[in-house]
Amino acid sequence: MKIVFNILFLFMVIAGLAQEDGHQLWLRDKKARPVTVVCSKNSPTLAIAKQELQNGWQGEPNASVILTLKKDKALKDDGFRLSKNEVIAETEKGVLYGVYELLRRQQTGEAITGEAENPSYQIRILNHWDNPNGSVERGYAGNSIFWCNGPDSLTVTEKDKKFWQEYARANASIGINASVLNNVNASPKIITPEYLSRVKSIADILRPYGIQIYLSVNFSSPSILGKLKTSDPLDKDVIKWWNDKVKEIYSYVPDFGGFLVKASSEGQPGPQDFGRTHADGANLLADALKPYGGIVMWRAFVYSPNDKDRAKQAYNEFMPLDGQFRDNVIIQVKNGPVDFQPREPFSPLFGAMKQTSVMPELQVTMEYLGHDKYLVFLSTMWEEVLQSDTYRQGEGSTVARCTDGSIYPQKYTAMAGVANVGLDTNWCGHQFNQANWYAFGRLAWNVNLKSEQIADEWLKLTFYGAQSSKLGEANYDADWSANFLTPVKQMMLDSREAAVNFMTPLGLHHIMSANGHYGPGPWWAPKGMRADWTPPYYHKAGSDGIGFDRTKTGSDAVSQYHEPLASQLNDINTCPEKYLLWFHHLAWDYKVKSGRNLWDELCYRYDEGVNQVRSFQKVWDKAGVYVDSTRFLEVQRKLRIQCVNAVLWKDACLLYFQQFSEMPIPFELERPVNNLDVMMHNDRGDGRSH
Ligand code: GCU
Repeated sequence: MKIVFNILFLFMVIAGLAQEDGHQLWLRDKKARPVTVVCSKNSPTLAIAKQELQNGWQGEPNASVILTLKKDKALKDDGFRLSKNEVIAETEKGVLYGVYELLRRQQTGEAITGEAENPSYQIRILNHWDNPNGSVERGYAGNSIFWCNGPDSLTVTEKDKKFWQEYARANASIGINASVLNNVNASPKIITPEYLSRVKSIADILRPYGIQIYLSVNFSSPSILGKLKTSDPLDKDVIKWWNDKVKEIYSYVPDFGGFLVKASSEGQPGPQDFGRTHADGANLLADALKPYGGIVMWRAFVYSPNDKDRAKQAYNEFMPLDGQFRDNVIIQVKNGPVDFQPREPFSPLFGAMKQTSVMPELQVTMEYLGHDKYLVFLSTMWEEVLQSDTYRQGEGSTVARCTDGSIYPQKYTAMAGVANVGLDTNWCGHQFNQANWYAFGRLAWNVNLKSEQIADEWLKLTFYGAQSSKLGEANYDADWSANFLTPVKQMMLDSREAAVNFMTPLGLHHIMSANGHYGPGPWWAPKGMRADWTPPYYHKAGSDGIGFDRTKTGSDAVSQYHEPLASQLNDINTCPEKYLLWFHHLAWDYKVKSGRNLWDELCYRYDEGVNQVRSFQKVWDKAGVYVDSTRFLEVQRKLRIQCVNAVLWKDACLLYFQQFSEMPIPFELERPVNNLDVMMHNDRGDGRSH
């Protein structure tokens, strides 16, 4: 390890990496040692694999590496097997993934073992919420890399191609093998010929990197584009229209992956407009795609403005349809039952349906977690969800195992991440948001990876050797590990809990500002607004206490979970404290595990969150000597903003809830520095309500 580090360090200094801006992500230039790559076959994908080895080889100088395509019983899909000088796989994509893994291990110093490495999910897919005009819904890293506005918006430029190629390479290096190119709130025009020719150009660039293209479609396309009288999924003209459209799409992109659909949700059209079910809608598209091997990812993100608990609605709607979906439909379920909150319990739809394929949808972009401003490493959140036990088939029936095919056979397995990528130089807005893109790919490949390892890899790849050591080259390795890697990794691992603490501790949720979902807004409830889009619906604060009663005597959402979990969540004494106010409405003087009353505990948690962010500032400032100035200063500036915002969250929530608790903020804690009326005045909702 030490030798590898020292040699790498030298190369990096020679390569003059001090001028970094983050554009190279975790794939920074390295001075390669000479290597001969032998492969008996030629193809665009294998050519990339060879080139990558030649550009990045850090193993024995003048080594000979063999890329072998052969059957191997232990390998599945695009899995591979590595030795120091060989990559074995059954598919070309497998060879490419193996090459990236070999290079990664050379850089991180991780041992190269001969074990078979197989992907946990067959389809590892990014969902881009990109609109045809180039804007990105909930995107915080600049405009779309795929679409733009203006008269020449559909002309493919060299710049476009370069970006798409870099994007494809980054994805392939972490095993991502599919991309949905447009927003789930889909414009019908995405499947018109003009747009399809651009889709084809994108697909052509992404293909050699093993990335398949999917599109989000608007369920009303037959009426809007085809001028049909209806888009009813059972209408024979509608069926024909979709069959023809799918045929046309495959004439542009012969290996097209399929459709992602948001239907009958948040104002989007869907089968329910015609009195049909989600199964009717999904099957219509699945049948059209079937002859070409395409699939439908049908989203379960549905809820209506009725008096039922929103957290229960998706389950209630989809469970009765179990067994009715075609085998090329996968139901795409957000990790939590509400909406990508800083912390939610897992959606009860995981491990619920028995005859329907289900896939997790994670949000890589930071809609509810500080946009491009906060440092929050999401891997720990995803690990928490994926390793949660659903008890579907006894203990150990984790969300991961309920979706990766280990408990139920699924024809297709997949994991989706809502992308955080845009045209910003550093791709993701915040340098550390790159780690979330990286973590998504790594977890989709190996759902059992630990966040600690992912952070470790990412930091080594992203920052190692960025500055020379003040202690001299010989000590760089030990110095860097002790004074950069260890503290910065710990900061990443703590960062999600810190955000939960200063935003939504103890199971609170959906109390953000309506204005872009950035700052706090527990008060937001304009007259006439549908209740389930307003924070008071979720926190239910009053003089009697706070929290949403989802117990058996409340909304009974607990009963959507299997035993013994349902009872555990239902019982105030066994419900994990992190979900307390998600499942229970409790008096302000209720005693929590620390011995404090609920109000004091809330105050302490908010305070802790602020202090954690302050400590991150210290960690980063101290780590500054190891980081090039551009990236260092960018992160430093953002941590300052995060700190100011954390204080705002704390003050806003505590002063607002204090109106109900009528209890003092414990006097040993920092006093608020913002006034409630001013914060409320400044939070002008822009009408985006959900
Ligand atoms: C959230 C988000 C929307 C998005 C929706 C979805 O509600 O705020 O912008 O369209 O999720 O996932 O469909």
